[in-house]
Amino acid sequence: MKSLARRKLLRLGLLSGVVSIFAATSGLAKALLPTPPETEGPFYPVTPQDDKDFDLTQVTGHKDVAQGKHIMVTGRVMDMRGQPIPQATVEIWQANAKGRYRHPGDPNPAPLDPNFQGWAIVLTDKHGEFRFKTVMPGAYPASKNWMRPPHIHFKVAKEGYANLTTQMYFPNEALNENDLLLSEKKPSERLLMIARKKEPSAPEALDMYEYVIVLEQKP
Ligand SMILES: [Fe+2]
Repeated sequence: MKSLARRKLLRLGLLSGVVSIFAATSGLAKALLPTPPETEGPFYPVTPQDDKDFDLTQVTGHKDVAQGKHIMVTGRVMDMRGQPIPQATVEIWQANAKGRYRHPGDPNPAPLDPNFQGWAIVLTDKHGEFRFKTVMPGAYPASKNWMRPPHIHFKVAKEGYANLTTQMYFPNEALNENDLLLSEKKPSERLLMIARKKEPSAPEALDMYEYVIVLEQKP
């Protein structure tokens, strides 16, 4: 791994975890594990919308902002050697703060929030970095005995790499323990699917979560 990439990973606080997981499970030295895929789920957006920018808390033309706790999600898309992937498409969609998707098929009776964008598509910059301002998604019932923990759905694409559809989880959420999807994963995979909370830069700053995405190169 080049030293620049290593320094950036260290800055993100992720190097030791990701590399040691890899070292323990594979003979291919100095490569990162690809981010585990997860099901797209039933609520991929189907209603066209013009505003899909990085700020999901503000819908163009609306005076009010989204309800709930506003957060920042930042991260990087990189290859298995730790090199950044610029100009990758990063798409997210999620439930609002009350656990409701803006999707006609969502049976959750929780209210829609007209000021929550719910869906965004951005490109990574030249360092492979991206960011979203959004709300902490609410938990929601997936069935009678299953509450989904807060999560954000991701689709990531870049020519030359395998498309990735996955879900990002939040640290220290009790519902993570019993989630039927997350608990199916190996502990090493789970670690790669849970974002890391970053210390706020100032007391009034938004809570910030970091999520590193590793794509597999197409053979
Ligand atoms: Fe979901």
